[in-house]
Amino acid sequence: MRKPIIAGNWKMNMTPAEAEQLIVELIPLVKDAACDVVVCPPYVDLAVVGKLLVGTNIKLGAQSIHWAPKGAFTGEISADMLLAMGVSYAIVGHSERRQYFGETDETVNKRAKAALEANITPIICVGESLEQRENGVTDTIVSKQTVAAFAGFSAEEAERCVIAYEPIWAIGTGKTATSEDANATIKVIRDAIAGVYGAKVADAVRIQYGGSMNPKNASELMAMPAIDGGLIGGASLKSEDFSKVVHF
Ligand code: PGA
Repeated sequence: MRKPIIAGNWKMNMTPAEAEQLIVELIPLVKDAACDVVVCPPYVDLAVVGKLLVGTNIKLGAQSIHWAPKGAFTGEISADMLLAMGVSYAIVGHSERRQYFGETDETVNKRAKAALEANITPIICVGESLEQRENGVTDTIVSKQTVAAFAGFSAEEAERCVIAYEPIWAIGTGKTATSEDANATIKVIRDAIAGVYGAKVADAVRIQYGGSMNPKNASELMAMPAIDGGLIGGASLKSEDFSKVVHF
């Protein structure tokens, strides 16, 4: 069976001092979690958070990763730099990166590949816009994004990926996909993986839901058979809220 995974995406929030406070509060609240717990702070917080997480059940994640080992890539960060901070997960292709920073299916694929090669688990984000949902192309969009993100991956690499299905219209808006809709679209994503790698690999990949997931709706979403976890934005910025989601 797939182990549930709840990850916090702090986005561009929390100074190192604020991060330290949040993590110190969070550690005891989630120490008995039955699921995998991940926090993805901004890069400047990785050092302080990474030190605090040593010996705990919380894993450290980054919000992106570059594909080159080093060099002239202003503003980017390499796998080796992240490994040195204790990072074991990296969000790749979040819709905010696709929308505001020119991330494409191709760069998502390159970043995810670099993560896998460094033994960092990529959390690959896919999801449709409101317009795409209204036009009835959600299934086509998420399938295409998934297959493109996995391009060139072996079955063994594909299995190690986590996918976050995040309908763009549900992110930070307080609007959640219904648990039935989220479940159905996640099944479509799993079918797309099965189409390339077969059912065994598809059954092994963990697929999260993301988009206004919070302490109120987490248990209903997590009860759906296809939903293996959550990528949590706003509700990951308060230790109590995040721990309630972790204990869905
Ligand atoms: P949200 O963000 O929970 O604030 O909607 C989720 C995400 O973008 O990962």
